[in-house]
Amino acid sequence: MNKPVILTGLRANNDLQLGNYLGALLPIIEMQKKYAGEYQINLFVPDLHSFTTPIDHSKLYEQSINNVRVFIAAGLDINNADTFVYRQSHVPAHSELTVILNCFTYMGELSRMTQFKEKGGGQTSVSVGLFDYPVLMAADILLYGAKYVPVGADQTQHVELARDIAIRMNNKFGDLFVLPEAEKEQIAFAHSQARLRIRDLQKPEKKMSKSDESGKGVIFLTDAPEVAAKKIMSATTDSFEKISYDTENQPGITNLIDILAALTGKDATEVAQEYEGQTQYGPLKTATAEAVSTFLTDFQERLSAVDDAAVMAKLEAGEKAMNVTANNTLAGVQKAVGLRN
Ligand code: ADP
Ligand code: TRP
Repeated sequence: MNKPVILTGLRANNDLQLGNYLGALLPIIEMQKKYAGEYQINLFVPDLHSFTTPIDHSKLYEQSINNVRVFIAAGLDINNADTFVYRQSHVPAHSELTVILNCFTYMGELSRMTQFKEKGGGQTSVSVGLFDYPVLMAADILLYGAKYVPVGADQTQHVELARDIAIRMNNKFGDLFVLPEAEKEQIAFAHSQARLRIRDLQKPEKKMSKSDESGKGVIFLTDAPEVAAKKIMSATTDSFEKISYDTENQPGITNLIDILAALTGKDATEVAQEYEGQTQYGPLKTATAEAVSTFLTDFQERLSAVDDAAVMAKLEAGEKAMNVTANNTLAGVQKAVGLRN
């Protein structure tokens, strides 16, 4: 019998940042450890998603492979036979299914996607690729019948859309797709209260993003540990002189609590309690800076030890296997919509 699938992707449009690691990478790696043997793990590089906004194309190819090195340095066990690593563009069924799903997705739905509004809003020229981004993402999920999709808070809406498209197609054509679980079940499976949203250290009203232009409020996984520690020490906070877990009123402080908690494997409420009653922000900043610097030192050491030949071998094996699975799902859809008999 096929094992249920846990799937996520991390775009290769720049070096990955701490929010990518804590919001998406670490959760799937923890799931790999916890559910070894029970679930299939698909961790892929959505390289076609990487240029929905402009990038330096001369770096994309290397950057995609580098993401896989990062997966391994972050603790992904590539010797696990149920784990598949692949580049989206190396499995052409993703593109083909997108074209089909496009005809069962509405302009109104895509216009409502927050990411599109945020990234496309105010721009003079927005690519069709950015608009269609969630449909490609739906294809990424539905081709493998993924049930669980660990992503950060910013991507929740897209996972929900994938589920809506699948329900719509199943209603019309019979049971074509395995449905990704609804948001509540996704969160319960991840054993967390909510999807994580790490904020920009300088502008805590925004999420931390690798495509941020200045990068001042962003901890990149490639930052020198002492540089990252300085970014934490100069994080924007507030003048309330109290420490409470309050995203609304104290987003900067809450962000530091989230980062410290995630890096030390604790609950945010537990960390918040430890600092409750303090009027100075220095100790919280110092502890977070230390946690970030220790994490980066270890991570970068593991990254430099990654075996490139093993990376390429795992990618090639993953792409070969996933082409078989994806083509099989695609053939079913082609048949259902009348392209094949
Ligand atoms: P970025 O904005 O850094 O380019 P991506 O859109 O490539 O990030 O996201 C890759 C994964 O990392 C997604 O699952 C996304 O939800 C997650 N992620 C991105 N930024 C954050 C963040 N600040 N906090 C938590 N998760 C995040
Ligand atoms: N859209 C995701 C992001 O920007 C990346 C992604 C593409 C993805 N396809 C996916 C994540 C499928 C989960 C499942 O972060």
